[in-house]
Amino acid sequence: MVENYTVCNCMQVSYNDIANAMHELSKFEDVLSAFQKVQDVTHCSTGCGGCHQKVLDVISEIMSGAAV
Ligand code: FES
Repeated sequence: MVENYTVCNCMQVSYNDIANAMHELSKFEDVLSAFQKVQDVTHCSTGCGGCHQKVLDVISEIMSGAAV
């Protein structure tokens, strides 16, 4: 189990928010299309944009099976 933490400070989006958003979506072809969908749901990375790579890392981690 991964400890929850804030990934996007601007929009207050946590690791769990991203994981939950991904649970709601059926399947992803790749990290970038998953990012688009997660962003639609959580609005992460729509502020300063500084968390972009962090969000991508979290998505890849979840996609690789860490939390799904
Ligand atoms: S920390 Fe995510 S947009 Fe600024």
